[in-house]
Amino acid sequence: MSILQNIPVAGRRPSKLDTSTFETLRAFIYDKTGIYFQDNKRYLLESRVSRRLKALHLDSFEAYARQVTAQRPREELGHLINAITINETFFFRHQAQYDVLVDHLIPALIAERGERCRLRFWSAASSTGEEAYSLALLFEEKIKPRYPNVRLDIVGTDIDTNAIQEARDGLYNSYATRNVPQAWLRKYFTAEDRGHRLSADLRRRVRFKQLNLADRLAMQRMRHFDVIFCANVLIYFDDTSKQQVVASLYNSLGAGGYLFVGFSESLYGITQAFHAVRIDKTTAYQKV
Ligand SMILES: C[S@@+](CC[C@H](N)C(=O)[O-])C[C@H]1O[C@@H](n2cnc3c(N)ncnc32)[C@H](O)[C@@H]1O
Repeated sequence: MSILQNIPVAGRRPSKLDTSTFETLRAFIYDKTGIYFQDNKRYLLESRVSRRLKALHLDSFEAYARQVTAQRPREELGHLINAITINETFFFRHQAQYDVLVDHLIPALIAERGERCRLRFWSAASSTGEEAYSLALLFEEKIKPRYPNVRLDIVGTDIDTNAIQEARDGLYNSYATRNVPQAWLRKYFTAEDRGHRLSADLRRRVRFKQLNLADRLAMQRMRHFDVIFCANVLIYFDDTSKQQVVASLYNSLGAGGYLFVGFSESLYGITQAFHAVRIDKTTAYQKV
């Protein structure tokens, strides 16, 4: 191996991600997060990790793999995770799910628990916060007027610390807010140069924190939720991690609580523990 390999050289192009280093990084990432890079996603891993090479002035993926897998404390692991996650999200991503929640499931939960109950919602893999804040907006506009004494706790979690910070900041571009009704945009957001910022009052309704869905111990501390959204994240896991995460989510629900996955995702072949409730072509998975 050339001694120059770990030395940054201005203008030198980083090496390619070879098969053995790809496999080392893939196994490491899988072990830490449950995220599994299929062979056809190698180019994606290469382009995301190359950002870390640049930041660290390394010019080979092998050197990076050695550093990130050996380092204690695992500071670089956090940067690697932030670099590889895909944070695509927007407000009211799948309107049909929110309609089923507001029109059917929340009234059913309230009928059972009483009109002075406290409901607990969790946006697991909340990315930059749009899903959790969609729930907060719906509560303000659709639930509170009908059930003024019902209270709601909303927690948003993600493995990506940059996404969590953006969620707390609550500043969204027009792509993210395109499904927010204009009247709600005027009522709950303030226009700024770079987009619309959600009011501090609404931001306070959601508690964001970092959480790795693959961390069994941390997941055990998430308890007694009535509704969990774990949407558009299971697609990044293989079947073994999906099963582990879904089993943890099952334990995190209270009896009768509901799990939503992404509109195009399904728990078919992953678990039979839930009762699939199908309303208006939307599936919610109930813990019975
Ligand atoms: C495509 S976004 C989905 C956001 C939102 N749930 C939605 O449906 O619009 C996927 C999110 O999952 C997060 N994620 C990936 N692996 C995770 C893990 N092991 N634990 C927690 N979050 C994870 C990513 O950081 C990313 O923000």
